[in-house]
Amino acid sequence: MALSPHPDTIADPERHVMEKAYARWAPLYDMVCGPIFESGRRAAAEAARQVGGRILEVGVGTGLSFSDYDHATRVVGIDMSAPMVAKAKARLATGQFPHVESVMVMDATDLAFGAGSFDCVVAQFVITLVEDPERVLDECARVVRPGGEIILVNHLYSEKGLTAVLERLVARPARKMGLRPEFPFARLAAWAERHGAVALIERRPIKPLGVYTLVRFRRLPDAAQRAAA
Ligand SMILES: C[S@@+](CC[C@H](N)C(=O)[O-])C[C@H]1O[C@@H](n2cnc3c(N)ncnc32)[C@H](O)[C@@H]1O
Repeated sequence: MALSPHPDTIADPERHVMEKAYARWAPLYDMVCGPIFESGRRAAAEAARQVGGRILEVGVGTGLSFSDYDHATRVVGIDMSAPMVAKAKARLATGQFPHVESVMVMDATDLAFGAGSFDCVVAQFVITLVEDPERVLDECARVVRPGGEIILVNHLYSEKGLTAVLERLVARPARKMGLRPEFPFARLAAWAERHGAVALIERRPIKPLGVYTLVRFRRLPDAAQRAAA
């Protein structure tokens, strides 16, 4: 039991641990994590392109996703890690991504944007790694316009079988590497239920291996808008 704790008993990652981990990852991230996360990243960006318009990428990292968007979108990226953002800025400086408006250092728990500023908020491989996932989701829901979407992609807890046991076993040591294998889907669903102004509209495993899950929420129209409709 002590070796394989229940996910509910494992604390969320501390911000300073993640900050340290991603400062270490920054120089290697594109080479190592780029190919590993590619299928999930592409699927999330494709879903975001369907929404189009102004897109906020939360935890944009080194900006690997910039090439997954096109001129029909305007992308703003934020990340708490200065070394990761420095890489994203260098990518932006190549001039190859005119659809990317800006990238900046910012904590996802306290977004410096007004309510309804974006058509879509995307977080690829981020929500399981933040210190306070529900607060980050609240912030995403605040800055997305009514009718807009929040799109997440992550490896989520396998729930059963040997994989689930392994995920629980490595959960604590994985933190230092900036990873989290035991985050349950139920927590995302419970947040949406509690929030009240978002609806869970999709939960889909990503091909080819189904290791990653794409989750989409839609921000519901405000009560005033609903009344006027
Ligand atoms: C696994 S990387 C994913 C990067 C990018 N989305 C991708 O798919 O390549 C996780 C990123 O989340 C960022 N992050 C973690 N906690 C954050 C927070 N509270 N606010 C903003 N970014 C955060 C990390 O700095 C890191 O760049």
